[in-house]
Amino acid sequence: MSLFQVYPLQPIAITKALGSHVWDDKGTEYLDMYGGHAVISIGHTHPHWVKRIETQLHAMAFYSNSVIMPIQEELAAALNKISAKKDYQLFLCNSGAEANENALKLASFHTGRKKIIAFSKSFHGRTSLAVAATDNPSIIAPVNETDNIIFLPFNDVEALTACFAKQGDEIAGVIIEGIQGVAGIYEATNIFLQTIRALCDKHGAVYIADSVQCGYGRSGKFFAHDYAGVNADIYSMAKGMGNGFPIGGILIAPYIKAKFGLLGTTFGGNPLACAAALAVLEVMEKENLMEAAAEKGKALMEALKYSKGVKAVRGKGLMIGFEMEAGLEDIRKVLLNDYKIFTGEAKPNVIRLLPSLSISNTEIELFLKGLKEATAQILNKTV
Ligand SMILES: Cc1ncc(COP(=O)(O)O)c(C=O)c1O
Repeated sequence: MSLFQVYPLQPIAITKALGSHVWDDKGTEYLDMYGGHAVISIGHTHPHWVKRIETQLHAMAFYSNSVIMPIQEELAAALNKISAKKDYQLFLCNSGAEANENALKLASFHTGRKKIIAFSKSFHGRTSLAVAATDNPSIIAPVNETDNIIFLPFNDVEALTACFAKQGDEIAGVIIEGIQGVAGIYEATNIFLQTIRALCDKHGAVYIADSVQCGYGRSGKFFAHDYAGVNADIYSMAKGMGNGFPIGGILIAPYIKAKFGLLGTTFGGNPLACAAALAVLEVMEKENLMEAAAEKGKALMEALKYSKGVKAVRGKGLMIGFEMEAGLEDIRKVLLNDYKIFTGEAKPNVIRLLPSLSISNTEIELFLKGLKEATAQILNKTV
C-alpha cells in the first residue's frame, strides 16, 4: 500500500530529535528553526516531557470521558494559572481544526445564530466549519461550502463596524488569529482586536481567538491576543500544547454555560495527552520560556533586519516571518541542503521561523551565520 500523497516531501527521513536539533537516518544533524510547524514548544524529546508521558503510560493509558479524570482537572488548573483567564472552562480535543470546529459550534449554540465573521488570508484548519472559515477556496470541498461565513478584510476596523451595523443580530461569532501564521506572519492590530471585543459585546456575539499557532507562549505572552489587553470569549489551542503529542483544546469564558451533550469526544483529554500538556506547562514555567521567547525573538528579529538580502521582517516572540530580496528565492533550499537548517515557508515568498521556545543563543547565532553564508553563496553564484 502506498501513502496518500498530499504533501510535497523533502527527501529527508528524520529519525531522531533532541532540543532544537533533528537527525536523519544517515546520521546528518539539522538545526530545527521550524519546530515541526510550530509544534515543538519546549524542545524535542525534553527529558521531563518523556518521563511524564512514560510514567502516565505505566499508570493508565486510556479510559473514556464517562469517568472523573483527575489529570484533566490538573491541566485545567495549570492552564488557568499560566493564562490568567480566571474561571474559564476547558474542553479538550485532539487538534487545532477540532478546537476551532468546537469553538465555532459553541458560538452558534450559545447565540442561536448562524453567521461567522472570518478574515482575509485566515487559516483555521481542514474540518468542515474550520475550513469554511479559512480563506483558501482550493482546500474547501464542495460539501464544505456555506453562506454562513462572512469574509472581511483583515485589520479593517471600518469594514468590521459596517458589517456589524448591517447584520449584528445574525452574527454568532468572530474568529481571528492573533498573528496570522499560514498567511505569512501578519499581526492583528491592537485596535482591531479591541474593536472586535467591543462589537461582540454590543451585539452579543462570541469572540474566538484562534491561538493554535500564535498561542501557548510563542509570541512572548501566553496568547498573542493578550497584547491587545482584551479577553476573548473562546481561545482555541493545539500545536505547542503537547510538544508533539496530539492534543488541542478550547478555553471557554465563564458566562458560556455547558450542557450535557453540547460537545463531546472519545480521545480528547486522554491521560497521555494531558500528561504531555502538563509537562509542557511545567517546563515553560521552570525554564521561563515565555520570557525567553519574547527576548530571543526580539533579538533575532533585530538581527534579521540588518542581515544582507532581507527586505522585510514581521512577527512577535518566536513567531517570525521574513522576506528576501529578488534573486534570493532559493534561500530555504540552500539553507536546508547546504547548511542543514530547517525553516518554514508561507507562499509565495515568506520564510517562517517557528523554533522551540527553548532555542539557545548559540543556536540562533548558528542560524544567522547559516543565513549570511547561504545569502553570500547565492549572490556570488549570480554575479
Ligand atoms: C492558526 C491555525 N489554526 C488551526 C490550525 C489547524 O490545526 P491542525 O493542523 O492541528 O488541525 C492551524 C494549523 O496550521 C493553524 O495555523
